[in-house]
Amino acid sequence: MSQKVILSGVKPSGRPHIGNYFGAMKQFVDLQNGDNKLYIFIADYHALNTVQSKEELQENIRNVALDYLAIGLDPEKVVLFKQSDIQEHTELGWIFNTITTMPYLMRAHAFKDAEAKNKDITVGTFDYPMLMAADILLYSPDLVPVGKDQKQHIEIARDTAEKFNRVYGETFKLPEPYILADTATFPGLDGQKMSKSYNNTIPLFGTDEEITKACMSVVTSSNAAGTPNKSDDTLFTLLSAFLNKDELQVKREKYESGDMGYKETKELLAEKIITYISPMRARREELAENPERIVEILKKGAAKAKVIASEKMKEVREKIGVTLE
Ligand code: TYM
Repeated sequence: MSQKVILSGVKPSGRPHIGNYFGAMKQFVDLQNGDNKLYIFIADYHALNTVQSKEELQENIRNVALDYLAIGLDPEKVVLFKQSDIQEHTELGWIFNTITTMPYLMRAHAFKDAEAKNKDITVGTFDYPMLMAADILLYSPDLVPVGKDQKQHIEIARDTAEKFNRVYGETFKLPEPYILADTATFPGLDGQKMSKSYNNTIPLFGTDEEITKACMSVVTSSNAAGTPNKSDDTLFTLLSAFLNKDELQVKREKYESGDMGYKETKELLAEKIITYISPMRARREELAENPERIVEILKKGAAKAKVIASEKMKEVREKIGVTLE
């Protein structure tokens, strides 16, 4: 892949889970090598829609920063920052509000889902895609690595860029989503999409006990021991993320023939996850001992992000007519 500008973020609304990791965060790490220019941020203003406690938000922000570093993001290669440190995000979000219609935003899946659950949604939840469009378009990325649930948000960012360009002249580059087919929608313990709001997650940095408990509760059918299983079920799909090609073939045959039962498979899943995350967890524990370093890294990242964002906003302000010559 030739050199690309890549941008993505995670909302600090709770502990990241392995769906976040395989759907998006792992791609950040894989893409940081080579000549790519990466902007990876913590979407703290987006999280305000659901987290309204100072201590909880601070804790969540610190946790996402630690998770980013623990999974292997290198702050020397990647611009790591906090959305709230760059005021241009909210500023551009506002400008996008003024060129976007309510009926258009009412078609967003996330809004429709939120509204179906609770009519009293915040204006911030409704307007979420405009801030996200600003997050993205300020940095002119080629690719935005995300899970499938964010695909529509990237389409909205593209539409918004096109609309702005049409009204005010060519300004924003149209980004492409970067979604890996195998992990686009990582399943949760009950087979639905893994999601904090469905309470069906395996935490990325849970304790061994938490991980084992979660794995033992993966929902399976009630096949008797020894009966053939379907390898496209939730349990085996989860396991496949942790197996290499050869292992996958062997285990799939065993699973499909009924030679490997649910209990054994769940235990293997727990063992695989624990082995996979152990080195990352050790790194995380080490990093957590030095909280000032996290603050320092985010500050340095913000200074770099600010240069790009403020340059783009200067252009936007001139184009919309608020800059007087
Ligand atoms: P968030 O914090 O909900 O999720 C972070 C990333 O994890 C992906 N993801 C999944 N992928 C596969 N299977 C799953 N079960 C699964 N669950 C979550 C999400 O698709 C996401 O990529 N709106 C974003 C944060 C954001 C953002 C941005 C992202 C704000 N501004 C600009 C990219 C660019 C969000 O809530 O992600």
